Amino acid sequence: MCGIVAAAAGSNIVPVLVEGLKKLEYRGYDSAGLAVVGATGIERVRSVGRVAELEAAAAGTSAPTGIAHTRWATHGVPCERNAHPHVSGGIAVVHNGIIENYESLRRELTDLGYEFTSDTDTETIAHLVEHLLRAEPDLFRAVQLACRRLVGAYAIAVIDQRQPGKVVVSREGSPLLLGLGDTGSYAASDASALLQVTRNMVYLENGDIAELTAAGVRIERRDGKPVERPVHVSELSAAAVELGQYRHYMQKEIFEQPEALANTLEIVGGAKSIQPGIFGAEAANLLHDVDQVLILACGTSAHSGMTARYWLEAIAGVSCTVEIASEYRYRTSVPDPRQLVVAISQSGETADTLAALRHAKSLGQHKTLAICNVPESAIVRESALRFITRAGPEIGVASTKAFTTQLAALFLLTLVMAKVRDRLSEAEEAAYIDQLRHLPVAVNKVLTLESEIEAWARRFADKHHALFLGRGRHYPIALEGALKLKEISYIHAEAYPAGELKHGPLALVDAQMPVISVAPNDELLEKLKSNLQEVRARGGELYVFADADAEIPSTEGVHMLRLPEHYGQLSPILHVIPLQLLSYHAALVKGTDVDKPRNLAKSVTVE
Ligand code: F6R
Repeated sequence: MCGIVAAAAGSNIVPVLVEGLKKLEYRGYDSAGLAVVGATGIERVRSVGRVAELEAAAAGTSAPTGIAHTRWATHGVPCERNAHPHVSGGIAVVHNGIIENYESLRRELTDLGYEFTSDTDTETIAHLVEHLLRAEPDLFRAVQLACRRLVGAYAIAVIDQRQPGKVVVSREGSPLLLGLGDTGSYAASDASALLQVTRNMVYLENGDIAELTAAGVRIERRDGKPVERPVHVSELSAAAVELGQYRHYMQKEIFEQPEALANTLEIVGGAKSIQPGIFGAEAANLLHDVDQVLILACGTSAHSGMTARYWLEAIAGVSCTVEIASEYRYRTSVPDPRQLVVAISQSGETADTLAALRHAKSLGQHKTLAICNVPESAIVRESALRFITRAGPEIGVASTKAFTTQLAALFLLTLVMAKVRDRLSEAEEAAYIDQLRHLPVAVNKVLTLESEIEAWARRFADKHHALFLGRGRHYPIALEGALKLKEISYIHAEAYPAGELKHGPLALVDAQMPVISVAPNDELLEKLKSNLQEVRARGGELYVFADADAEIPSTEGVHMLRLPEHYGQLSPILHVIPLQLLSYHAALVKGTDVDKPRNLAKSVTVE
């Protein structure tokens, strides 16, 4: 998703802007640009493609004040004309988000004589500020007035050639934070962009407008009231985002899973029992009368929720619904104040998940829990309870370690809910905790299968379609495997609960169709084996991920890999790993851009 970096300092800030944009590349983008207040006015450089190209194009540019942007197209195709910053007269603007009333503003500004040179909604902001500056020469006030006219979600940064040394920023719905350096003030959509200059961050609230100068920052509300925001010292590790020995971030993140899980589960320590307090001081109070769980999430995070549903109902005996956030937020639902609303998100900024959480709260559902990888994110800040997965920064667009750490967190939630509801004996709890503790080691063993999976992936070079099958708690794992394969290798993949095969998808099966099956030795294995026979009988080529105990013979047309350990209820956490590796290696074979698949963004902060 789009990224913003802005700086006002005592010396040339172009290297800071470019370095900041590089750190935001992981969010996904198709073009980039920057503008500075130079000796002759606004100097703007834009390019389609990578930040490295922008860096080369901006080699001769130098100034102490500037704004920069990576764009992920929403209004208008990716091209230089649509890339930010957009200028009007002496001002330049970068913008994340969507201005919903841009068409009426565009008509109004066109009637006033402004000429539009792009297809973007952002350009309306540039012209609007320019227009307002004619009556109100102070940039800060003009931006404040402009923001009162904007409808939608946005984060913006604005410079004016008549007011060098100053950047004005504002946010409503899209993330934006300030960085307070020794010799300058900065803003960015994500803390990682500013670690190069400071760890002192100020998180802006919706409706805040801030002025940045080399001397410091001041913040007001949109209605003109001055406001103070606390300074947080970021604990993000700059090293955590380096690629190191790996070819891609996705590969690095797949292999980081043992550590990510160990870090996430550290909270359990050496205990034999888990306390509700791991979800926040208020948890015991808030969870004691919960009668249902509603999980809200998107994409991979929704798949972790779907897996947890099997756990919550089977182990904790609490009924659970999982809803795609973008559906729930617009649906008329029946609120239940005793329902626990769980928002799951890696980034904590996903627009639909955040809006769904707010919608639930607006219906009077105040028992809210965020399961999230970014402690300072909006979803965490707006939830009553929280569990921070400690996966570390996830850079690859395809989510991997965030997913398995979410599963670990959701399993902890299951145990806590089971205890609160008197459904778990001490011995059972201790046994589950032992299994959790062993998880990083078990994941490490699964990772040793990489070379065999790589060999399988070569057989996908000429494939255009694939089918994933699973049953029970492994059906969401099949869904996740299909999502991974389609998003990074562009092979069309679908997942079905294996029992559904003969109700439709079996018609697709022929010798060209690889069928990938998640087949641990659980209570549904015998049923699954019959489904696999149905595939073989139609000539389909089977790729089966079984486990040590699963009795499935490897015959012609049936490729079999056995995960080293059978892992009972927690087996989904192990079984997703070979599917991640399969899609990673299939993408390598296909030659796609693994970490930045086409059309996708890491953090989806617009609807
Ligand atoms: C797929 C993927 C996406 C995200 C989804 C939600 O690999 O990464 O489907 O899971 O966009 O993002 P978060 O978890 O940040 O809310």
